Amino acid sequence: MLINKAIFPVAGLGTRFLPATKAQPKEMLPVVDKPLIQYAVEEAYAAGIREMIFVTGRSKRPIEDHFDMAYELEMELEAAGKAELLALVHQVKPDDMECVYVRQAKMMGLGHAVLCSERLVRNEPFAVLLADDLMVGTTPILKQMVEQFEEWRASIIAVQEVPADQTRRYGIVDGTPVNDRMMDITAIVEKPAPEDAPSLLGVAGRYILMPDVFSEIRAQPRGVGGEIQLTDGIAGLLRRQKVFAYRYEGKRYDCGSKEGFLQANVELALAHPEVSASFREYLKSLDI
Ligand code: UTP
Repeated sequence: MLINKAIFPVAGLGTRFLPATKAQPKEMLPVVDKPLIQYAVEEAYAAGIREMIFVTGRSKRPIEDHFDMAYELEMELEAAGKAELLALVHQVKPDDMECVYVRQAKMMGLGHAVLCSERLVRNEPFAVLLADDLMVGTTPILKQMVEQFEEWRASIIAVQEVPADQTRRYGIVDGTPVNDRMMDITAIVEKPAPEDAPSLLGVAGRYILMPDVFSEIRAQPRGVGGEIQLTDGIAGLLRRQKVFAYRYEGKRYDCGSKEGFLQANVELALAHPEVSASFREYLKSLDI
């Protein structure tokens, strides 16, 4: 395997979801029956990654507990003969998956959060997944990217076309197409105004990065909002080596926003074997 490690920055405040995120991380908010972070971890696992590195902050406990053994629960399910539920609980952390935690003491931005994992990642390419972007694809999005990495052996950032009036919400890339899905990036800017945006290709929360990005992040002055931005580190990296943008096949739900989170719940419920039929009936019955 070329990509063995995935970083999950989960130290953010999640202010857009207050008060739900007052005492729990937004990554633990459930979509239908699974917390957001589990969708992201499953996506990394499906891409062949086995070492999951969580960059945590305040109120991190629920995430660590979620990926730990739940002795009492497992014993009770076993005693009650509830084999299916027991398997469901076990599946959260398969035996061949390792979870490591590192703390971001001060919230200094996404770039800084990624930098906190440097000593664990060392000198190999790695993936970054932002769990609040819930990605759904026939082939999991990160797996698509790992396949591209095998061919191109360079940093790859997931992108999608975004509405012209929403460039301020995204990192926006510019570059030269190399095929119908890949683009050789020439510029990347964080949250530009529509008139300054070099294109409409916005960065989604999935990255494969070469380890050289660490020194680039370290070299950056504080970016937009006084934070150390990952985008600025990537901008530095592409002055030294190739960085590609990949237009993924699939759908993204911005679960960091209320609207995207609600859309994800509705659409994933409609696809969920247990509730889809009855939920569809319920939606139809609503007089809206
Ligand atoms: P966001 O910009 O979504 O910020 O961070 P946030 O604090 O999580 O949410 P809002 O905007 O206040 O509602 C993007 C990702 O980067 C992580 C967050 O956890 C999220 O996954 N992050 C951000 C960190 O880990 N550390 C930081 O210092 C900043």
